[in-house]
Amino acid sequence: MARDLIVIGNWKMYKTSREAADYIEQLLPKIEGNKARVFLAVPFTSIASAAACAKQAKLEIGAQNMNDARDGAFTGEIAALMLKEAGATFVLLGHSERRHIFGESEDLIHRKLARALQDDILPVLCVGETLEEHEAGNMKEVLKRQIESALADVPKEHAGDLILAYEPVWAIGTGKTATPKQAQEAHAFCRECLAEIYGKRKAGQISILYGGSVKPDNAKKLLSEKDIDGVLVGGASLDADTLADIIQHCEGIR
Ligand code: PGA
Repeated sequence: MARDLIVIGNWKMYKTSREAADYIEQLLPKIEGNKARVFLAVPFTSIASAAACAKQAKLEIGAQNMNDARDGAFTGEIAALMLKEAGATFVLLGHSERRHIFGESEDLIHRKLARALQDDILPVLCVGETLEEHEAGNMKEVLKRQIESALADVPKEHAGDLILAYEPVWAIGTGKTATPKQAQEAHAFCRECLAEIYGKRKAGQISILYGGSVKPDNAKKLLSEKDIDGVLVGGASLDADTLADIIQHCEGIR
């Protein structure tokens, strides 16, 4: 089953809109002709300028968060429809920094995912266990719970409309990466969870990305595993040349 190879850069709270435009100008010529789909999750204020620069190119711009309501009196929040109109085609949901720093519950992530599907913006659902859960041997239990809670009651017509990202919390921004074998085992398990919800065929079509201290020197081995369909890159995506190097590793895979 040929699945899309996807590289997502997650800029977090870095780069102004002007810096975003300069970055994209630098990145585009370096990734021309590469078969990976490249996504950039940028700060809200950079979406419009990034989307304008990415136009015509094979580069998709998205957001890092959104509210679960269509609209309403929610000071400081942002809705899917606003993101879309600004040029975003996807949104990260359930990133570990949202779960652990901002206290987002599994129920809230579920409601956000349902809203993203309803308002037609592609959700990239991030899941992953903490160091404590990892050391206690609870990885599978945590992944199953996070996937099942987020995808509960997804209407049939939206079955499989998502990208999944496995990001072990202990590997995010720490310089520690899961070994390719560890990551493959987690990805295969995530796919089993998806198969229980959507059936084997649909689950076989969903791209599952690995995230957590991905760098040019570990990307290739991770990408060579059969259930790793791309990478979600934080710190190393802040430099256009470094992200381009990671994207180059998608050549020759599959
Ligand atoms: P990192 O971040 O690559 O800096 O570990 C990954 C992420 O937060 O998505």
